[in-house]
Amino acid sequence: MSAAAPKSGQPLIYLLHDVVKTRESEGVAFRLRVPSLQIARGEKIALIGESGCGKSTLLDMLAFILRPSTAGAFRFRPQDDSGPLDVDAYWQRDRHNRLGDMRKRHIGYVMQTGGLLSYLSVRENMSLCRSVLGMGDDGTVEHLAEKLGIASHLGKLPDALSTGERQRVAIGRALAHRPEIVIADEPTASLDPYAAENVMSLFIGLAEDFNSTVILASHAWRNIRELGLRRLAHRTTRSADRKLTQTVVRG
Ligand SMILES: Nc1ncnc2c1ncn2[C@@H]1O[C@H](COP(=O)(O)OP(=O)(O)O)[C@@H](O)[C@H]1O
Ligand SMILES: [Mg+2]
Repeated sequence: MSAAAPKSGQPLIYLLHDVVKTRESEGVAFRLRVPSLQIARGEKIALIGESGCGKSTLLDMLAFILRPSTAGAFRFRPQDDSGPLDVDAYWQRDRHNRLGDMRKRHIGYVMQTGGLLSYLSVRENMSLCRSVLGMGDDGTVEHLAEKLGIASHLGKLPDALSTGERQRVAIGRALAHRPEIVIADEPTASLDPYAAENVMSLFIGLAEDFNSTVILASHAWRNIRELGLRRLAHRTTRSADRKLTQTVVRG
């Protein structure tokens, strides 16, 4: 792994080389190919593309939720004081607990529809990752709630909130344990354009405050063009018989 990415001069958090994921359902196959992907600390990355082009497939691999079909190299180096971890080797040795621990500790994930637990209060939802990691209450949850404009909802259940408020809770939950990386899968897809723009800039601003690296998927570029994200290049092609769709992502 090279010491620094040319783009920002920062150490690399992710280094992927020849990573492939093939998925198949009902006789139709999809293949995501990543010949090369380097993400440096502090970068803000966006994968923008139409539905079905493989955005969630890539994000789920970066979050160690989905196992690549094959990988030339898949390295992850969340902190500068440790060497790069060989994610592919963990998958090959079925070290699922280790992969889960890395995800919990270093990654915050914002899901498209929030993914909040309906039986926990907003405060409990936002504190969940901190509790799992044994982190005490240092005021981070209150600080985030304040910034996200949901402080008055901390004692409520998610069902009592609007869609936009729930998405803001989901963003707070993903950041509350101060992860090195925040992955967001279409975090504003269920919001109207005005709310989407607002929530997106809140999200990116907070991720910057927390020094988190951001990896974001969206089907719309319009709302995030001004936020200074580096857009990954991708190209989707279909075979003549339409039985194979392939997306190649580079960045
Ligand atoms: N669980 C699954 N099993 C089999 N194929 C899947 C599964 N999820 C997605 N796919 C296939 O992978 C393609 C890419 O899906 P996805 O990564 O979810 O795209 P996006 O997030 O860009 O909408 C889909 O078109 C579908 O064919
Ligand atoms: Mg998706």
